[in-house]
Amino acid sequence: MLNKKIAEMLNDQINKELYSAYLYLDIANYFADEGLDGFAHWYEIQAQEERDHAFMMRRYLINNGDRVVFKAIEKPDKEFGDHIAPLQVGYEHENYVTSLITAIYAEAFAQHDYRTMQFLDWFIKEQGEEETNADDLLKKMKLFGSDAKGLYALNQELGARVYTPSATGPAL
Ligand code: FEO
Repeated sequence: MLNKKIAEMLNDQINKELYSAYLYLDIANYFADEGLDGFAHWYEIQAQEERDHAFMMRRYLINNGDRVVFKAIEKPDKEFGDHIAPLQVGYEHENYVTSLITAIYAEAFAQHDYRTMQFLDWFIKEQGEEETNADDLLKKMKLFGSDAKGLYALNQELGARVYTPSATGPAL
């Protein structure tokens, strides 16, 4: 079994990952409603990845003999005034998630829980990638999104995103 506090933090993080999936699906709903199916598709895949993260953490707790305890998932209640707003929300959310993963990592380090540190290494790297992706998307949207042709091209580009299951993720 894991240290009690670390197990609790990972349990909470499962909830945050599922909330992330919920938030990204909510953003996908917004874009679908706006007729931007490529953007909607991109966020649907993002939601699938977040769900994968939750599953990986759940499996890690189970593999270590810890009980997984679910809490209610918060309602995403963001209002989006324009097409850039959801992208900004997504970027800020990824920064927030990075801070949560970092806090668990710091606790694992303090507890000399090297196994959990190794488990979290994958997430540390993943967060770096997700922050970069969200930032790139935001920058592209600011550069090209106000022009109809630019928005069309960006929508096409995002619609080509392919979901790849996070099979290389940790399962210690
Ligand atoms: Fe699983 Fe993007 O945090």
